[in-house]
Amino acid sequence: MSEDAAFRTVIEPFRIHSVEPLRITTRAERSSRVRDAGYNLFQVRAEDVLIDLLTDSGTGAMSRDQWAAIQHGDESYAGSPSYFVFRDAVQELFPYAHVIPTHQGRAAERILFQVLGGPGRVVPSNTHFDTTRANVEFTGAEAVDLVIAEGRDPSADHPFKGNLDVAALRELIARRRADIPVVMMTITNNSGGGQPVSLANLREVSQVCRDAGIPLFLDACRFAENAFFVKIREPGMSDWTIPDIVRAFAALADGMTMSAKKDPMGNIGGWLALNDDDLAMQCRNLLILTEGFPTYGGLAGRDLEALAQGLKETVSEDYLRYRIRSTGYLADALVERGIPCLTPAGGHAVYLDAAALLPQIPPLEYPGQALAVALYELGGVRSCEIGSVMFGRQPDGTERPAALELVRLAIPRRTYTQSHIDYVIEVAERVKAVAPSLTGFRIVDEPPALRHFTARFEPIG
Ligand code: F0G
Repeated sequence: MSEDAAFRTVIEPFRIHSVEPLRITTRAERSSRVRDAGYNLFQVRAEDVLIDLLTDSGTGAMSRDQWAAIQHGDESYAGSPSYFVFRDAVQELFPYAHVIPTHQGRAAERILFQVLGGPGRVVPSNTHFDTTRANVEFTGAEAVDLVIAEGRDPSADHPFKGNLDVAALRELIARRRADIPVVMMTITNNSGGGQPVSLANLREVSQVCRDAGIPLFLDACRFAENAFFVKIREPGMSDWTIPDIVRAFAALADGMTMSAKKDPMGNIGGWLALNDDDLAMQCRNLLILTEGFPTYGGLAGRDLEALAQGLKETVSEDYLRYRIRSTGYLADALVERGIPCLTPAGGHAVYLDAAALLPQIPPLEYPGQALAVALYELGGVRSCEIGSVMFGRQPDGTERPAALELVRLAIPRRTYTQSHIDYVIEVAERVKAVAPSLTGFRIVDEPPALRHFTARFEPIG
């Protein structure tokens, strides 16, 4: 082998600079904590969790250079230099005319859909994330998911399972053109398994939207991971740089909503960016009502500085190679051990297929909840149900099983080492061993919307 051949081991392209302790808990302690929490892992205290894979949102490790950037934060109410540093970093990748900071992604969604939504309207997406769907529905509009058929099949092998079904979009536009204020495209498709969208698919969707005169917006939380998948999987893209791929995505859309708690490496933050002057003005007016003045939008100047630096780091190919490989490492190990999960692995998370692992639990007894609770009780691993608890309740109050019963193991950025992940693999093996004896849950208390955050459960049997 040549001395210059690439090494098999993909290493973390950083070393640890500051550490946080993890508190080791006992099985008995965890059983009691989760019972007190109504078997809802969102209600468990973080210090009672050993490995927290609840989300990759805002839970990543900031870099030395981000912490240094925080010192440059200028807290002027209006026109802070930190806003312009932030705006320039966003426009470097997403050259939209208006960049409106918000405190996180859902604030951008609320503002956008407050302007564009309303009764009788319909908003298509490949798959709406839960807050996006909730913000669309809150205005009285309908949120429609049009992901390709492979994107709904946990084991289908397709390089871009986040793609939108263009024929279905055309058909919807033919029937409801006047009711569609915007088409959304979630990159990567979080609720569909963190699966990427191809540039070719976005190009087609963009053409359909432009022909119909409908704006296209990206929900771009994980744009860098999506771009890396495009680079390694899409024919003809391997020579493109990550920033060029991101700009190609941006150019096909008219705007974006963004949670900066994902790929931009922030602990908080988001933005709304768009080209349309009139829409931007309406959005800024709403922003001022609840988020703040348009040059800070609910963020501190120091947050804006940290995000600008995070945007530079997240498009690094060395970082993305490590990031995508470390998620793949977990998925490969689970598949090898016969633990059913969604394949190919997504960018930010591995999704366990609870319906396949727990066939004895019917969808409306929430197999995903049972699996998530078992991972916590057995090993202190916190995950997130993405199934009938999250999506089963319809706007009219009825219950319908979700398309998939998944449990997401989301990997915070630059936070856990390979031995943490090896431990998670061992916990999953132990859960698989007891899987046939696990039983479902019933909901004993729930709010009218976004129930997965606060609902209380009771084990059945
Ligand atoms: N869109 C997508 C695709 C998301 O994944 C999220 C958040 C949001 C919008 C909302 O952003 O949290 O900043 O308000 N996803 C987190 C998750 C919560 O765990 O997947 P936010």
